[in-house]
Amino acid sequence: MLKMALIGCGSIGRIIAGAVCQGEVRASLVMVLDRDKEAAGKVCELLEGRPAIAGGVEEILASDADMVVEAASVEAAKEVAVPVLESGKDLMLLSVGALADGAFYRRVLEAARDSGRKVYIPSGAIGGLDALKSAMVAQVEEVTLTTTKNPRGLAGAPYLEEQGIDAGAITEKRVVFEGSAAEAIKGFPANTNVAVALGVAGIGVERTRVRVVADPGATRNVHEIHVRGDFGQFTFRVENLPSPHNPKTSYLAGLSAVATLKRLTSPFQVGT
Ligand SMILES: NC(=O)c1ccc[n+]([C@@H]2O[C@H](COP(=O)([O-])OP(=O)(O)OC[C@H]3O[C@@H](n4cnc5c(N)ncnc54)[C@H](O)[C@@H]3O)[C@@H](O)[C@H]2O)c1
Repeated sequence: MLKMALIGCGSIGRIIAGAVCQGEVRASLVMVLDRDKEAAGKVCELLEGRPAIAGGVEEILASDADMVVEAASVEAAKEVAVPVLESGKDLMLLSVGALADGAFYRRVLEAARDSGRKVYIPSGAIGGLDALKSAMVAQVEEVTLTTTKNPRGLAGAPYLEEQGIDAGAITEKRVVFEGSAAEAIKGFPANTNVAVALGVAGIGVERTRVRVVADPGATRNVHEIHVRGDFGQFTFRVENLPSPHNPKTSYLAGLSAVATLKRLTSPFQVGT
């Protein structure tokens, strides 16, 4: 049975722990780490064979886990990714925005190659990565992501602050950002992880185009992806409901982590 360690016991971490507890994922959670000890304790309470609470990353690295699931933050992803792979464990990365940093991406790739371990990146709050991966076998000319959110969900984004845009004062639907996925994750780090996942699966974070739309009438986070290439073209649209424990995170993101774990532990694999 797969042995996992979990870094980050917030909304996604709790969904993963819940799936392990219900036997939906055939794996055991041996250790958890969160800088918020109460959050780590709450996740442990969900599980029968209570996992150990790590005091730091070193304990995770020294544990007998086969895989470390990062569901914490870009900062945590940057701290743990390479050491996890070098310690001989596989890695699942939810804070995929970390990979927009080209030098970091190359270090992770090298560590995975050298150690023979794998890095798993769930689809997160979007879909369509299966079709994009198939399309990439031939030429892909264009990948565009349009993310529409209520301005409340964009408040505090560094790009809006830089531009002097007050999210609370937006009363009509408007485009607030257009640029590459690499620029989007810098300007909207809490909202555009999906843009980086698209970039990594497709034509890269520099060539992947992103548009962020603030819509005061929006009640859901909508992501629309358009891909054009030798295969033809496709458009994928998802209207996400928020996670039960964190309104900023789409429920689908946590479910995608569980689905990836199910795929890893299932004898039957469907989809690219
Ligand atoms: N790939 C996607 O589509 C997608 C979608 C949503 C969220 N995310 C990302 O996944 C991550 C988790 O999301 P969430 O909704 O569960 O967040 P959350 O805020 O609900 O939980 C994160 C938890 O991690 C802990 N944490 C943060 N930094 C840490 C560190 N350096 N060391 C130890 N613990 C740390 C926090 O205390 C918190 O309990 C975030 O980075 C988020 O941006 C990705």
